[in-house]
Amino acid sequence: MTSTSPPAVDVRGLSVRYGGFHALRDLSVNLPAGRIIGVIGPNGAGKTTLLNAISGFTHVTDGEILLDGRAIQGWDIRRRVRAGLVRGFQTVRLMERESVLTNVLVGAERLDQPNALAQLFALPAQWRGRRIQERAAHEVIELLGLGADRDRRVDELPFASRRLVEVARVLISYPPVILLDEPAAGLDQEGRRELAAVLARVHERHPSTLVVVEHDVDLVKNLCSHVVALESGAVVCAGTPDRVFGDPRVQLAYFGRSADAPA
Ligand SMILES: Nc1ncnc2c1ncn2[C@@H]1O[C@H](COP(=O)(O)OP(=O)(O)OP(=O)(O)O)[C@@H](O)[C@H]1O
Ligand SMILES: [Mg+2]
Repeated sequence: MTSTSPPAVDVRGLSVRYGGFHALRDLSVNLPAGRIIGVIGPNGAGKTTLLNAISGFTHVTDGEILLDGRAIQGWDIRRRVRAGLVRGFQTVRLMERESVLTNVLVGAERLDQPNALAQLFALPAQWRGRRIQERAAHEVIELLGLGADRDRRVDELPFASRRLVEVARVLISYPPVILLDEPAAGLDQEGRRELAAVLARVHERHPSTLVVVEHDVDLVKNLCSHVVALESGAVVCAGTPDRVFGDPRVQLAYFGRSADAPA
């Protein structure tokens, strides 16, 4: 697992059906390698379902998911994690009474390959298991500006810091493909700005194919170089932020007017 050439994720003809309801309908999209990709769309558009399908958290009714050209739709979650594909959740799921460090370490335990962490952090061969994980946890905690809170219980922390703990758990191994589901949800404007800055900094240091589901237009424009707009389980528009936010259908959904209409 190296971070030098993260893989692209290519979704082809993907359908996810719950009973008679199509959460995703014959959806095809390319998530380009090494970019920060924003996924936008109204509530119920299928954003979380897309992340669930890519990460193996839901069944796929039809279609293909290609990771660097390899079809992974039949793989279980652990196999996808081992291949470097790690997701975060829309709601913060932390062990409330445990410290920031303990919570972040959970992210390392998801990996069955401590050696991958050792390689990533260029640690000596005699370092093993827990020590390697702790070193990785300390580094990501510092990078996310949580150093002063490392030993505090997460239930004592403000919401913005708790969000960062959730993100740190995903980032601990700097996976080549990262899927974050509304990491800025519930944060105030300053919190959102800080989170975007942190993600940009992490991406610069550890290039990945970083997919961020997000409603905040400014955050997406500032952070992402590629945007995918979903509606009713299908792609409305994909491309540069200017292209997508200039699309009349996206304008209508987000700003209540078409780009062609007078402002
Ligand atoms: N397990 C499930 N069983 C039945 N329907 C589901 C299931 N998961 C999702 N859905 C439905 O699929 C649609 C898409 O849901 P999804 O959670 O992917 O939307 P979303 O774009 O993430 O919305 P939000 O912005 O509210 O998070 C919704 O109508 C939802 O009710
Ligand atoms: Mg969602």
